[in-house]
Amino acid sequence: MARHLITSALPYINGIKHLGNLVGSQLPADAYARYLRARGNEVMFICATDEHGTPAELAAAKTGEPVADYCARMHGEQSALAAGFGLSFDHYGRSSSDRNRVLTQHFAGQLADNGYIREVSEKQVYSIDDGRFLPDRYIEGTCPNCGYDKARGDQCENCTKQLDPTDLINPRSAISGSTNLEVRETKHLYLRQSTLKGDIAEWIDGKKDWPILTTSIARKWLNDGDGLQDRGITRDLHWGVPVKRGDQDWPGMEGKVFYVWFDAPIEYIAATAEWADSEGKSDADWRRWWRLDEGAEDVTYTQFMGKDNVPFHTLSFPATIIGSGEPWKLVDYIKSFNYLTYDGGQFSTSQGRGVFMDQALEILPADYWRWWLLSHAPESGDSEFTWENFQQSVNKDLADVLGNFVSRITKFCRSKFGEEIPAGGSYGDEEQQLLDALTTRIRAYEGFMQAMEVRKSASELRAIWVLGNEYLQSAAPWSTFKTDPEKAAMQVRLGLNLIRLYAVLSSPFIPFTSDAMLQAMGTDNADWPDDVTAALEALPAGHAFTVPEVLFAKITDDQRAEWEERFKGVRG
Ligand code: 2FM
Ligand code: ZN
Repeated sequence: MARHLITSALPYINGIKHLGNLVGSQLPADAYARYLRARGNEVMFICATDEHGTPAELAAAKTGEPVADYCARMHGEQSALAAGFGLSFDHYGRSSSDRNRVLTQHFAGQLADNGYIREVSEKQVYSIDDGRFLPDRYIEGTCPNCGYDKARGDQCENCTKQLDPTDLINPRSAISGSTNLEVRETKHLYLRQSTLKGDIAEWIDGKKDWPILTTSIARKWLNDGDGLQDRGITRDLHWGVPVKRGDQDWPGMEGKVFYVWFDAPIEYIAATAEWADSEGKSDADWRRWWRLDEGAEDVTYTQFMGKDNVPFHTLSFPATIIGSGEPWKLVDYIKSFNYLTYDGGQFSTSQGRGVFMDQALEILPADYWRWWLLSHAPESGDSEFTWENFQQSVNKDLADVLGNFVSRITKFCRSKFGEEIPAGGSYGDEEQQLLDALTTRIRAYEGFMQAMEVRKSASELRAIWVLGNEYLQSAAPWSTFKTDPEKAAMQVRLGLNLIRLYAVLSSPFIPFTSDAMLQAMGTDNADWPDDVTAALEALPAGHAFTVPEVLFAKITDDQRAEWEERFKGVRG
């Protein structure tokens, strides 16, 4: 039994995520985790909310809650939605946990001891009325280039010119609007990533099997970008992990916190420790996933993320791990995704454009979304959500192909043989051909799942469902029954066993439906079909089943029109 550690990029805490976020990391990671578990591997699947930084502070200020309360509430909401979508995390942690505070301070201490930290004095804009330093993007003013009056301190959105806050004409705080600003001197810690460039380049060069999307982004930043310049890892904020060197105070760093991108990936480790705490396990139980000197040599570690997160996971986080000089596990494989667009544009939180996780579950069960999103995962390029395509996929793949198969065979059996698997008859050529075709396709499906080729896996799975339909169509037990009831019984027995087989194979994609199918078949035998012939004899003659409720309802044109209207962006 192999051991797999899987992490999904940590969703930021400030708001409900949209379907593009979901398909860019958590959902494919879940399908992979479910697949590996179904194949008998030991899996640790970790996610958490990413809770620190200015956006969380500002979101909390908007709702009037203390930021810790805001994060606790939003963590609850996000974790309920994750459960609603069937995301099977072993633990859904919080980057604001004690475990993460201690580990983050530990890593900073190690990096300092090894000479990878330097202190830098810089000048930064301070807002006297807000009582805080302002990050560049929270300073607004008039662009010196084009005159746009809402340019941000890092960039003008109108003419795209990169700016320094001091370039802005009439600068003001984006938080309060105050113009009572001054430039103050402040000290920060920098991680000397530049000195680790050789180690990181060598590590990435060794990753021959990584997706091009992942390595091309990493190489771009390593070679011609400035991703491996030394990077500030502290901020003048209140909400975050206090800057300490291990458990020691850091002189001159009082009142400062670590930058959110420094502590967030460390939370992958910390969340595994939180898992141990929540399960009453020992430190050794989580460390065996992460420490090469404590049992993690045989762990395969896979990360899932959107492409914008790749630089942090190929360069910065590895720099933290390597620079610590301790035997922590580095990632073995990074599966990254392009973007999902919405009906010809972007999903937009501020404009209410596109479907967000809570709204999705209000209108349809999770498996409808899981199927569409996974079968259209933005792997080789961006992909687009349209209601027409969604309606078509659901109605064809789920309702016509899978749902219809299950409904026809169970209803036919009930009407002619009753609600138990009928006895009699034996396989002929047609059945043997089906078994051969299934075996070929199932082995192909396994190969794609193992390789995390999400779309190809989905299309192979669909082809496996189609084989059942084609068999049923040509075997036509309803006709056979009139002349040869024994043979019809054999055909029906095979069909009912196919339902169980489909439930097992489909569980990474549509876990709720898969459970419903197993339940209808009156079994909890979810053994993987290593031997397809044996798998199709798992439910013997005489075994009781029930006809399930309709598995998938078709999406009507009226529904489609209504949803198109509802989600097009009310504030746009
Ligand atoms: O891009 C994001 O939404 C980040 N919150 C992802 C963090 S992943 C990890 F490093 F924690
Ligand atoms: Zn401009």
